[in-house]
Amino acid sequence: MSDTEDHGFARGLTNYGDRDFSLYLRKSFASSMGYSREMLSKKIVGIAYTPSGFNNCHRHFPEMLEAVKRGVLAAGALPVEFPTISLGEVFLNPTSLKFRNLMSIDTEEMIRAQPMDAVVLMGGCDKTVPAQLMGAASADLPAIQLVAGPMMTSRYGEERLGACTDCRRFWAKYRADEIDGEEIGKIEMRLATTAGTCAVMGTASTMACLAEALGMSLPGTAAIPAVHADRLRAAEATGAAAVRLLADPVRPSQVITRKSVENALRVLLALGGSTNAIIHLTAVAGRLGIDIPLTWLNELSDTTPVLVNLKPVGSHYMEDFFFAGGLGAVLRELKPLLNLDCLTVTGETLGERLDAPADPVDRKVIASAAEPLEPQGGLVALFGSLAPRGAILKRSAADPTLFEKEGRAVVFSSLEDLANRVDDPELDITADDFMVLQNAGPTSASGMPEAGYLPIPRKLSSKGVKDMVRISDARMSGTAFGTIVLHVTPEAAQGGPLGLVRTGDRIRLSVANRSIDLLVDEVELARRRAAFSPTLRDPETLRGYDRLYAEQVLQADEGCDFAILKPTK
Ligand code: FES
Ligand code: MG
Repeated sequence: MSDTEDHGFARGLTNYGDRDFSLYLRKSFASSMGYSREMLSKKIVGIAYTPSGFNNCHRHFPEMLEAVKRGVLAAGALPVEFPTISLGEVFLNPTSLKFRNLMSIDTEEMIRAQPMDAVVLMGGCDKTVPAQLMGAASADLPAIQLVAGPMMTSRYGEERLGACTDCRRFWAKYRADEIDGEEIGKIEMRLATTAGTCAVMGTASTMACLAEALGMSLPGTAAIPAVHADRLRAAEATGAAAVRLLADPVRPSQVITRKSVENALRVLLALGGSTNAIIHLTAVAGRLGIDIPLTWLNELSDTTPVLVNLKPVGSHYMEDFFFAGGLGAVLRELKPLLNLDCLTVTGETLGERLDAPADPVDRKVIASAAEPLEPQGGLVALFGSLAPRGAILKRSAADPTLFEKEGRAVVFSSLEDLANRVDDPELDITADDFMVLQNAGPTSASGMPEAGYLPIPRKLSSKGVKDMVRISDARMSGTAFGTIVLHVTPEAAQGGPLGLVRTGDRIRLSVANRSIDLLVDEVELARRRAAFSPTLRDPETLRGYDRLYAEQVLQADEGCDFAILKPTK
């Protein structure tokens, strides 16, 4: 390695006046890892590596890492993995979203601080892919996303099981006394049985598809099952593609553009994908100064058909989606609606990618644009006096008979209040009421948990009630379903109208009009507003990451990113 070069181990060298000494020192330490001089002189592909004993979805990462390294080495560069924090969705308290920004900071700073010329981002579980894309977008070093891939399904009797839409389905049966404790215990051991991310079009699979739609992953890789041999070939190919980026750099800022974000939004709508993905995509795009107003989502929703028949909206699983043609088949159907001149990490445009010959498509799983499952997109934004800055409804996962409805609010003021009262036999509630949960938004102590899927009160579920209108400033798992209005912005704790709702108020939902209104007159609302005291936590009483979070987190319509992580003007 010549002393004037700025790549490989010499990259970004800290230089206190004697550059040659700094390089000599760094090479000495690098050589202690047993690298030959030849290896020390190569360019480096960093690998952001995220296995964890607390992340079941990434348990096959050691094997995938070997394949990435093989691809990098064979293409002539040196692979060097480095750890970042990993976020295993179900193991984080109070909620994984709180730590997505922390992982994005870790990823960004370690890409920037360490000597690498390109980076492979190995992620998969819900928050990891958005965190890595956010960090990589800010660092803006050539980067390729490689995802874990979905879990395979399992069986229980005649039932096919996949985490975690079926988890909810069976739990609802248990709550309704249709199955007993012994049976739910058996099912518990069968729901998630292989490596990989949740087996349905939940948040992880949605984000995997959006990463590919943006052009940040290799074509055809989003849906390959975690345990399929093609997943290892995709890992090897990703390593090789990262080496190509060394000669012909394509930076995240060239791939993630307003046009590719629009493509990703179209794909999100066509998948009937996770509501969380709108928050994540907003955060990723926001790192490059691209706003996603929810009015844009509605415009695209009106002209984008739902094409994918996957749980939680439809009936199939991710492995079926892979064998049916995967994301490529969806992109081909959407082709007339997409911006085809978008650059991807391969150096090709999206249009060039879609010119390649296609595999046969299983139309039971991926519909054609001519005969879609739904003529309009799976998600809509709602605005109105209850949600001045918007709310989200996954209409493809909701009960259309509840779409045009006025109801009486039954308010739960916090997660604790909900837990204490929801199963109370004395609770005054009917199936026609609207359940309202307050104080579960981004700045609440719980950090916007997936609590928006409010349980149907036991007194109603035991009578067979399966869905009700439920409204909150919380999120919902991508694997959940129901007529659930989420991400109400501004949140209750910030003084949003949601915090002013009282039990007995009337609320009107109209999906046709994209509206959600609190039918309380302005005089009464002003009186309540004057008496309102925010439940916000005082950052002065907090320390460490809790304090940073409380001071910096933005609302859902800004992706719940931190204000300090947005680009500087
Ligand atoms: Fe990791 Fe669902 S728990 S993707
Ligand atoms: Mg999830």
